[in-house]
Amino acid sequence: MRDILSGGRVAEIAPEIGQCLLAWYDTHARELPWRVPPQLSKAGVLPDAYHIWLSEVMLQQTTVAVVGRYFLEFLHRWPKVEDLAAASDDDVMAAWAGLGYYARARNLLKCARVVAFELGGHFPQTRKGLMALPGIGPYTSAAISAIAFGQPETVVDGNVERVMARLFAVEQELPASKAHLHKLADGLTPDRRAGDHAQAMMDLGATVCTPRKPACGGCPLRGFCLAADKGIAAELPRRGARLHKPTRQGIAYVARRVDGAVLMVRRPGRGLLGGMLGWPGDPLGENGLASPPLEADWQPVPGEVRHTFTHFHLRMNLWVAEIGADITPTQGEFLPPDTFDPNHLPSVMRKAWQMARPALQGVES
Ligand code: ADE
Ligand code: SF4
Repeated sequence: MRDILSGGRVAEIAPEIGQCLLAWYDTHARELPWRVPPQLSKAGVLPDAYHIWLSEVMLQQTTVAVVGRYFLEFLHRWPKVEDLAAASDDDVMAAWAGLGYYARARNLLKCARVVAFELGGHFPQTRKGLMALPGIGPYTSAAISAIAFGQPETVVDGNVERVMARLFAVEQELPASKAHLHKLADGLTPDRRAGDHAQAMMDLGATVCTPRKPACGGCPLRGFCLAADKGIAAELPRRGARLHKPTRQGIAYVARRVDGAVLMVRRPGRGLLGGMLGWPGDPLGENGLASPPLEADWQPVPGEVRHTFTHFHLRMNLWVAEIGADITPTQGEFLPPDTFDPNHLPSVMRKAWQMARPALQGVES
């Protein structure tokens, strides 16, 4: 790897890698509510910095699937940074409920007020300027600068680290390899369309170069990838012996019918909690599918269920709803009170019930 770097070979192949990645992004970009689609960004259209800032702060510890609805709700209530700056702390904290990490919400509001009241409503365009704002660190400043302002900044999240480790077959373990992976990513950052490049890297890591089963066959960077050549893609990035448990974000929906029946689903026989009952949604943060099992007036439950499994920590967001008698769910079945016993649920699901129950009483009254 040193050889490739010092020999300038990254610089040599960087333009080609960048072109393949952007060509892929032009047809495969995820449609995200804060994003300007590649058809437009190609022509130089930049997204609203307020949108990018808001989404990136929300995405700091939360999955794309969960953030979507919060992002839209925030924009609906506070369309401009000035609107958010003028909101009450309580309203913003309430709107944030369910996203977790409440310090993020407090910093969000502080930052909105600085931008609205001291910077004339304009976000700084440079990393340095952005870093000076509350709640904006190295990652978020690079993301905003690249995506909202087209600056050639390098945006490195866990997805990008993984893609770099594989592309260049970096054997060194994380976290020691972080600086090296960042340097490699830096070498690929183009001067033009840096925001699209950054988002393409993240999308590639999220949809193709996935942690467990990278889909190398369909990867636009397969022709450059040293780990795929060596057949070790899925093994990278290596991690230090001290077991680092990742944190997954789950989401569960607890629906109670007027007769007291609750909606549950039987989990697939294989895998974690196989065959057990669980709440609909994506309670263990496995698939990123966060759609509710039925149409209802879903209410977020403040706080989050925390649980640690052998290989990961789980934080679960909960939503509750009281349901009419005549509604048919798209998944699972309603268990009447005489067959529903929370003590027979996997403990993580029981924790969720314990947290959901008071909220359901709130919904009723
Ligand atoms: N994760 C964090 N920011 C992102 C973005 N802009 N696009 C895709 N995934 C992301
Ligand atoms: Fe990842 Fe495979 Fe693509 Fe390499 S070829 S970047 S390992 S998906």
